[in-house]
Amino acid sequence: MKVTVVGAGAVGASCAEYIAIKDFASEVVLIDIKEGFAEGKAMDLMQTASLNSFDTKITGTTNDYSKTAGSDIAVITSGIPRKPGMTREELISTNAGIVKSVSENLIKHSPDVIIIVVSNPMDTMTYLAHKATGLPKNRIIGMGGALDSARFKYRLAEALECPQSDVDGMVIGAHSDTGMIPLTRLATRNSVPVSKFLSDDKLTYVKEETKVGGATLTKLLGTSAWYAPGAAVSAMVQAIACDTKKMFPCSAFLSGEYGQSDIALGVPVIIGKGGIEQIVEIELDSAEQENFKTSADAVRKMNDVLTEMSVI
Ligand code: 2OP
Repeated sequence: MKVTVVGAGAVGASCAEYIAIKDFASEVVLIDIKEGFAEGKAMDLMQTASLNSFDTKITGTTNDYSKTAGSDIAVITSGIPRKPGMTREELISTNAGIVKSVSENLIKHSPDVIIIVVSNPMDTMTYLAHKATGLPKNRIIGMGGALDSARFKYRLAEALECPQSDVDGMVIGAHSDTGMIPLTRLATRNSVPVSKFLSDDKLTYVKEETKVGGATLTKLLGTSAWYAPGAAVSAMVQAIACDTKKMFPCSAFLSGEYGQSDIALGVPVIIGKGGIEQIVEIELDSAEQENFKTSADAVRKMNDVLTEMSVI
């Protein structure tokens, strides 16, 4: 199983490290445009192999896509991260061109690849990857909901004062500060609805903190987070590589599901060796449906910017 990670920055390198430590891939190729950077990160990571007991081979290359040839899975993390106070959407003018050229380069050398998009604004970058590559829609997945749901569970456990292992919850909609929909109605503490333990005010607090989870960290770190994003995307890579049929909320290309078409947006999907193997349509209440439509409308506006930029 060969995995390419485009972008050897903090998110890409964390993703490569988690993949290696889980030891399910034979090879991880890190690629970056900065001279020597991917090679250095790969060598540093390989020098942890005897300490972290993995056999995965990590190599690095400076922008030579021939080294990515035959990749089964590719993760796109390239582009600039946001700075404190920025929205993910403000990154589009820089990141769109990068994601387009990366996508085209990837499929040139790996026509059967499954692509996972991390770069922001992620739902629009996922849509762009679909348009730029023409890959079947099950083979392009956006990573947002897996990360946002992890932040949702963190906030729920904090509010419940319980272990995160007791909590389950899912975030759908756009991976954006305003478009995210943490499904508090369906969240549970060991199968018991969390509404049994938390007041409406507390649930609202959890929801709002989840939505700005990325921005909160960007304020503290001075740049975007990397550990949880890296962990989230490595879990998706593992689901494909090991054909686990695990369910994640991911940005998936919709063709009528949830009343939306020709858009990539966060919905529950089952991930296996074929990438997105099933889009799971759950019943949403009227407020959730309204929020989902609002979220979709905002993402469509961002997708239109791609046309204005003549990127698609
Ligand atoms: C985040 O929310 C990078 O969009 C990613 O941290």
